[in-house]
Amino acid sequence: MAKVGLFFGSSTGNTEAVSYQIKQEMDTHDGWEVDVHNIGSSTPEKLMEYDYLIMGIPTWNTGELQDDWDIFLPNFANMDMSGKKVAMFGLGDQNGYGYNFLDALGILADEVMKSGAYVIGLWKSDTYQFEESKATIEDHFLGLGVDQEGQEEMTTNRIKTWVAQVIEQFNTNYEPA
Ligand SMILES: Cc1cc2nc3c(=O)[nH]c(=O)nc-3n(C[C@H](O)[C@H](O)[C@H](O)COP(=O)(O)O)c2cc1C
Repeated sequence: MAKVGLFFGSSTGNTEAVSYQIKQEMDTHDGWEVDVHNIGSSTPEKLMEYDYLIMGIPTWNTGELQDDWDIFLPNFANMDMSGKKVAMFGLGDQNGYGYNFLDALGILADEVMKSGAYVIGLWKSDTYQFEESKATIEDHFLGLGVDQEGQEEMTTNRIKTWVAQVIEQFNTNYEPA
């Protein structure tokens, strides 16, 4: 049984709800067990216990990190995450914040990569409409994009597809450049 630590921050509950949907979907795959933690009450030590990580973050206040992730972020400077695989997902509102769509996902992913971890679970951005985002790398986001305001009806299928992809990438020696 491989253990995955899923750490989320959530100010109005959307990212928390999606975290449990992701856990539920992972549970349908044999051999994977997910512990869900709120980053607001977690420590760097807790996070370092896991080789497989999922991190969930919404963007707030026009391009900013969610508050609990904002407080946690400086810890990464003292964490050596070499060898860990991290899959990330971000929540945002493409219609309301099209110039900062999912920015926090990009900001967090940068820190995670600087700490030595591999970010896996990149996700095509072509089914979203937005002007600018700090979370893009060419035609992908640095993780799953979830928009509960504008595209809620797509969330369940997106999670299903993404989780299957993440498990495959956790399983193999896939290492992005
Ligand atoms: C004041 C405010 C600012 C926001 N700023 C952004 C933003 O810059 N970019 C974005 O993609 N979404 C933005 N959003 C949308 C949130 O990310 C979205 O509602 C998300 O689902 C909230 O997640 P949570 O309930 O887990 O906190 C903003 C929402 C509000 C209310």
